[in-house]
This record gives sequence, structure tokens and C-alpha cells, in this order.
Amino acid sequence: MKKVTKAIFPVAGLGTRFLPATKSIPKEIMTLVDRPLIQYAIDEARAAGIKEFIFVTSRGKGALEDYFDHAPVLEQELRKKGKDQLMEVLKNTNMESGAIAYIRQHKALGLGHAVWCARRLIGNEPFAVILPDDVIAAEKPCLQQMVEAHNETGGCMVAAMEVPQSKAGAYGLLAVEEDNGSLVKVSGMVEKPKPEDAPSNLAVIGRYILTPKVLNNLNKKHKGTGGEIQLTDAIAEEIGGKEGVYGYRFNGERFDCGSKAGFLQATVSFGLGRDELRDELWGYLQELVASEKAAQ
Ligand code: G1P
Repeated sequence: MKKVTKAIFPVAGLGTRFLPATKSIPKEIMTLVDRPLIQYAIDEARAAGIKEFIFVTSRGKGALEDYFDHAPVLEQELRKKGKDQLMEVLKNTNMESGAIAYIRQHKALGLGHAVWCARRLIGNEPFAVILPDDVIAAEKPCLQQMVEAHNETGGCMVAAMEVPQSKAGAYGLLAVEEDNGSLVKVSGMVEKPKPEDAPSNLAVIGRYILTPKVLNNLNKKHKGTGGEIQLTDAIAEEIGGKEGVYGYRFNGERFDCGSKAGFLQATVSFGLGRDELRDELWGYLQELVASEKAAQ
């Protein structure tokens, strides 16, 4: 089996839930503590052995390209001032020449279509897809966990997590044929079903390892839920095939940074995870809770 070395990052969305901020900055540049969302996704991909990074963008996403470029004036200034630590921080944002590619999705036709736009850069090998809105805090990064599991299974694999029944309709949901704890064999997948059609509350989270066959399936441009070309549908076509489809219950905490509440929770959690911020932030949270309680 070929190694997974390419990842697609669909980043063409308008981010309307975060207007007015996203009027002039891409959603993926919004900051968790001091790093943009996209940096978390890139770091996770690197840890999983990804060498080629393919961004599917749209108009107005220029700041993303600049973010991964060298910043000679800034670097020169930092070097002059002896700010070695900051130079080190900047290093993580630089990409090797040729390791990063940008493809435009000219029409917002859905996640499946966005992935399909990158088909010529993928060719005939397995590839990963990372949705940067889903930020996953984990000791071993989620995609790395999946790559290791995928070495055993092959086929298509999606990250999976149980979600509350009340929220299930916002996800792709899995029907389970065989449940082995962290690994499940999938017998069905439905994108954002009505509650009565939901096969389970085991949801697809934004990490995928897919075979190139999924790109072929997307060639049909079949419209699904919401009139959009859905990645879920193209993966579902592989169920029952020779290689099959697996769900992987990852270890880690997932934050839905596509929603304001999720973004705020992630900010608090990542803030508390930082040595230099923990005491001050924790003190503040305790005070806040105490004064809320006193007011009740
Ligand atoms: C996308 C996928 C969905 C998946 C979700 C995870 O939906 O289409 O299957 O469950 O990401 O975050 P979106 O949230 O982009 O509407």
C-alpha cells in the first residue's frame, strides 16, 4: 500500500458565521491563542507524515498564502534584535518551496466538489483530507492515529465521534456493521439526515484518509443534501467494495471551531494548556464562576 503523503485542506468557505470578522480575513486565519486555525491543521498533517499540502481556496483567501510565505522584512528585524525564540516560532509557518499548492474552487458546490478540484494533484494514491474547522487536541495527533490504523485496514477511513442526538443532524452519520471499539466497519453513511433517518449518533469528524476511487465517484457530480456535492456520498459508494470504509474513534478532544461557542471553548482549553497563561486564565475563570454563583 502506498504511503499517505498528500493532504487536501478545503478552505474555500466564506465563513459567514463569523461575520463581520471574516469580511476581510479568511476564517482559517482566525486565532486560537496565538496561532491561526490553519496552523493547527498543518502541524497535525506534518506529524502524520504529510509532505504535500493542497489548499482548495476561493477569492479573498490571499492572507492564507501570505501566512505560509517567508516574511523577509519581519525576519530581518527579529534577527537584528536577537529575538531567536520568535524566529523559531516563525519557522513553523514556513513551507518548503513546492510543498504547498493552491487550487481555486470557482463555485461553492459543496465539500465533495472542493476535494474533487484537487484531483489532478492527487493522482492514483491514497490521500488525507483535513477540515481546519475541526480542531482536535490529542497527545498523538488525530491524523497520525488514523494513518497508523489505516496501515492495517487500507480502504477509506473517516474520523468518528459520538455526538448528542440533538446535534446529530449537523453531521455525516455512520451506520455500523462491526464495532471493535476504536475501529468500526461502516455499512452506511448519510449526510445531515433528518432525525428519523439517522442511522446512529456516530458522526464523521473532519479527518479523512481516502482512496483515489472517491475522486472518481466525485466525477459524477451527484448532488446530495442541501443541493451540494457531498464528500460523504462519494465515500459511501465505496462501502461493500473490495477495500471498504472504516470509522475511527480517535483519542482526543474535538472542538467545533466552525461555531462561535466551539471556538470560545477551544480558546479557553488551549489557553489553559499553555504554561505561561494557565495561572492567570484559571484565576480569572474561578473568579467568574464565583461571582456568577454569588449573583444567583
Ligand atoms: C462536513 C461534512 C460532514 C462532517 C462535518 C464534520 O460538514 O460534510 O459530513 O460530519 O464536516 O465537521 P460541514 O460541517 O462542513 O457542514
